[in-house]
Amino acid sequence: MSDVAGYARDFQRASLSVGFATEIDDEQFAAWSRLLKQKAGLFIAPERRSFLLSGLRARMRATNCQDVREYYERLIHGAQDTEWLLLIDRLTVHETCFFRHESSMRFVGSCLLPDVLERGDELTVWSVGCATGEEAYSLAMLIDDSIDGSPVPVSWRVVGTDISQPAVQSACTGRYLRRRLRDIPVAFQYRYCKKVSDTHFQVAEGIRERVSFSSRSLSDQVAQEQQSVDLIYCQNLLIYYDRQTRLEMADSLAENLRPGGVMILGPGELLDWPNSNMEKVRYPDSLVYRRTN
Ligand SMILES: C[S@@+](CC[C@H](N)C(=O)[O-])C[C@H]1O[C@@H](n2cnc3c(N)ncnc32)[C@H](O)[C@@H]1O
Repeated sequence: MSDVAGYARDFQRASLSVGFATEIDDEQFAAWSRLLKQKAGLFIAPERRSFLLSGLRARMRATNCQDVREYYERLIHGAQDTEWLLLIDRLTVHETCFFRHESSMRFVGSCLLPDVLERGDELTVWSVGCATGEEAYSLAMLIDDSIDGSPVPVSWRVVGTDISQPAVQSACTGRYLRRRLRDIPVAFQYRYCKKVSDTHFQVAEGIRERVSFSSRSLSDQVAQEQQSVDLIYCQNLLIYYDRQTRLEMADSLAENLRPGGVMILGPGELLDWPNSNMEKVRYPDSLVYRRTN
C-alpha cells in the first residue's frame, strides 16, 4: 500500500471513532504526526497537540473546510502542494531577530573568524532554520566586517535554509521593519542597512549577494553539503523536537561539516551528544561543538 493510502486508511479509521472531527483524538493525532513526519520531517510532540489543532483550524478556516478529516484527505489526495506549504508554515514558529544570541555571535567573531583569516581559506556558513533571514544576514555582516582589510583573500558565502517557504521568500528580500534595526550594532546599521521607505530598511546589496536562501526541510538536506561546511549555526530549531529526533538531526547535520568545522546550537539544546566525531568547545554561555575528523 502506498504511503498516501496508508495515511488515508489510518486517518479514516481514527476519524470514524469520533464521527465528526473538529477535535482530534489520539489516533488522529498519531495519523497527523505520521503524515507530517514522513512528508516534511516535521515532528509534533504529543504535548503540542493543541498547537497542531490551532494550526489545522486556522488552515481549515482559510480554505473553508469544515471537517478535519476532509482537510486531511484534501491534503493527501489533491494537488495541494501550496496548501501543504501553508500548513507547514502555520505549524512552525518563526520568531527570530538580528544578532539574537550574543555569546554565540561573539564566538563566531572572536574565535572562529580569526582562525579562518589565518588560514586564508574558503568559508561556508549554513544557517539552519533561518526563518526570515535575520540570523544569516547577521553572520554575513560579522564575516564581512572581520575580513575587511584582511591581507589574505577569503572567499565566503552564507546559506540559509528553512522548511517554511513564506519565511524563506521573506528572507530573500532582505527587507525588514525599521524597528528591527535596534538589534543591529550601530556601526553595522550605518554600514550594512539602507533605508528603503519610512517603515522599512534593506540589508545592503554587498551582503545580500553573499547570502542565498532555500526552502528545505532538515530531513531533505542531510549530507547535501558533504563535509564542506565550516560553520553550521542551528539555534532555536531543535528545541521543538524530542531528544531522539534532536540526536538524529544533529548527527546528520554534522555529516556536512568539514573536519575542524564547528556547529553552534542554542544553549541547552543538546547538552549531551554521544557522537564520537564531535567534541564540545568550551565557551561561556554557548553550545559549540567541533568536528574532530
Ligand atoms: C524559532 S525559528 C529560529 C530562527 C533562528 N534560527 C533563530 O534562532 O533566531 C525556528 C525555525 O526553524 C524552522 N524549522 C523547524 N523545523 C524545521 C525542519 N525540520 N527543517 C527546516 N527548518 C525547520 C522553522 O520553520 C523556523 O523558521
